[in-house]
Amino acid sequence: MRYAPITDRLAGLGSDKWALNAAAHARRARGQEVINLTIGEPDVPTPQDLIEAATRAMQAGRTGYSNGQGEDALLKALSERYTDILKRSINPSRFLCLPGTQTSLYLAFMAICAPGDEVILGDPMYASYEGLVRAAGANPVPVALRPEAGFRLGVADVARQITPATRAIFLNTPHNPTGALLTPDDLSALCDLAAQNHLWVISDEVYQDLTHDDEAFTSALADPRFEDRVVIASSISKSHAAPGFRSGWLCASEEFCRRALPVSETMLFGSQPFIADMTADALRAPPVVARAMAARMARRARLIHDRLDGVAGLRVHLPQAGMFALLDIRAHSRDSKVFALELLEATGVAVMPGASFGCALEGWLRVALNASDALTDEACNRIGGFVQRQAA
Ligand SMILES: Cc1ncc(COP(=O)(O)O)c(C=O)c1O
Repeated sequence: MRYAPITDRLAGLGSDKWALNAAAHARRARGQEVINLTIGEPDVPTPQDLIEAATRAMQAGRTGYSNGQGEDALLKALSERYTDILKRSINPSRFLCLPGTQTSLYLAFMAICAPGDEVILGDPMYASYEGLVRAAGANPVPVALRPEAGFRLGVADVARQITPATRAIFLNTPHNPTGALLTPDDLSALCDLAAQNHLWVISDEVYQDLTHDDEAFTSALADPRFEDRVVIASSISKSHAAPGFRSGWLCASEEFCRRALPVSETMLFGSQPFIADMTADALRAPPVVARAMAARMARRARLIHDRLDGVAGLRVHLPQAGMFALLDIRAHSRDSKVFALELLEATGVAVMPGASFGCALEGWLRVALNASDALTDEACNRIGGFVQRQAA
């Protein structure tokens, strides 16, 4: 049978990138023990009050069709939240509610890109980004993020990649996998560059509530001069430990929302009202789940640093935010996939190879910070022992 070219463009860009996680599950299914530090799952279950809010809404009959944009209560809660964060009025008409950040980004690229367009983005990048760009027929143009620059996207590096085909700059702050935060100056410079070149700025801010210690998050929408060209995607997956609810949104200009709405309606025809009610409740409350989670994750990142940095040539990169630490294994291997598989086989510790996140992270591993302190400590014992045996 003949298939559309999108199936070729996306071949290998979906679950193939998560082969290490599949290998960890296969190992567990064989009855072998695994410490799985591959996926960015929150480290606690969804809070009971949010589950009760969704249940109450279902019992109250909130199980009918919604509309394409989103339920009024959720749009109002989003408007209040962003008005509070950005310190200026952000109307409900500037949101589209969608099932998660992932779908929101998919819609953003569908609404912005045409075949042959180029999208500039940092490398390393979250594993699904190449697919998101290619799904719309556009081509990703990676810009290497360097450890010595704190893995922050450099405006001069981006400027060098701009061509007549460039359509958008794709940001992710806080960044997965590096945990880097873009500063207000970074964002102003990048948005300025976008404005000079008539480009869109799409920013994935799903980790915005997970800043570590005293680090401060700034949204790409912070500067009102650029609000016509900035599109933000986010969700409650990380902030409220609720990835299974699939509840996210886009925040953009009214015009963007009006133009993108039929694309979303064609694909989804709205989200679930009971999930919208629960999300509105979640957004109105202070982000206590996220703050506590961020504190635990910052502590585990320091634990990994204290236990492994300098051991047999390993280096540990401390994140400013988010759910991951990075291990530089270049003293041992330039093939992170082979190294991660050998580590899993020899020790039962599953981590993601840097190569799953782009060429620039070859020779690195991404370690999730969502296991307990005791398990993280045990993973460090095993990783340390493994590299010392390799070095011997
Ligand atoms: C950077 C980034 N963006 C998007 C997602 C997906 O988020 P959501 O569950 O809201 O679709 C993830 C999940 O790990 C992520 O790390």
